Amino acid sequence: MKPLNPPITDWQGRRVWVIGASSGIGAALTGQLREAGAHLALSARSEGGLQAIAHQQDLLLSLTVTDAEAVARACDELIETWGAIDMVIYCAGVYSPMRAWEIDLECVDDTLMTNLQGVYHLLATIVPHYLRTGSGGLCLLASVAGFSGLPKALAYGPTKAAIINLAQILYSDLSSRGVGVYLVNPGFVETRLTQQNDFSMPALISPDQAAQSIITGMSKGRFEIHFPKRFTLPMRWLARLPDRLRFYLVNKAVSS
Ligand SMILES: NC(=O)c1ccc[n+]([C@@H]2O[C@H](COP(=O)([O-])OP(=O)(O)OC[C@H]3O[C@@H](n4cnc5c(N)ncnc54)[C@H](OP(=O)(O)O)[C@@H]3O)[C@@H](O)[C@H]2O)c1
Repeated sequence: MKPLNPPITDWQGRRVWVIGASSGIGAALTGQLREAGAHLALSARSEGGLQAIAHQQDLLLSLTVTDAEAVARACDELIETWGAIDMVIYCAGVYSPMRAWEIDLECVDDTLMTNLQGVYHLLATIVPHYLRTGSGGLCLLASVAGFSGLPKALAYGPTKAAIINLAQILYSDLSSRGVGVYLVNPGFVETRLTQQNDFSMPALISPDQAAQSIITGMSKGRFEIHFPKRFTLPMRWLARLPDRLRFYLVNKAVSS
């Protein structure tokens, strides 16, 4: 069967903007893509964090994705420098464990703004560029936490469910116009983000393994790239169970 997206088997000379590049999955992707010959632009809030992982030839654009103008400025600067952008990988994300009796509005706002609204800030500036050039790729990091409601993900889970939905809409709108849309749903990856979890995380993988899975998924032209399958497949199955059974299993897992 024909792949849904253009398979990306050669990164040599591709102009890739990684947003959320300073740590975790974004940093690992940056390392592997550089090795594969991509030209890289790296964004995150912390300039020091970017400098710590950058090589001399990388372009550094520190910004917060919550600032639409800063995202648009960075995008314009890249287009001016490179002539065009071939791929944007949106890894920026925050997570704070939160249960229903612990609502912290400041933290909810930050999560919604970073994980979701920031993507719209990017879309508003990159989609017109891709439509002008008639090509490009957009890779969005969602999560298995978006498959169905999980405790502790009170703010985080809804942003990831929204990204899954958004990526599907973007695919419908953009794939026929030469734009690849890649949706990434990782299980647990050992990063700064998951360091906050106080439970043992099943099927935990390293950021390098996550980055490798993303690059492999893109090389096959997948729309959805999910890993590790020993965890993501049962999570997908869980999401499709009847409500009564799903709530029972989720509550049992949380209380054990
Ligand atoms: N780790 C997992 O198990 C896991 C599982 C599923 C999905 N994911 C998703 O994968 C993505 C990467 O997560 P990670 O685990 O690699 O986390 P991480 O190590 O904490 O990396 C997050 C990156 O996002 C950047 N960032 C955060 N807020 C930002 C903002 N407002 N503006 C610009 N950059 C911002 C951070 O840099 P600064 O702090 O310098 O800004 C950092 O580079 C996230 O979308 C996450 O939800 C992770």
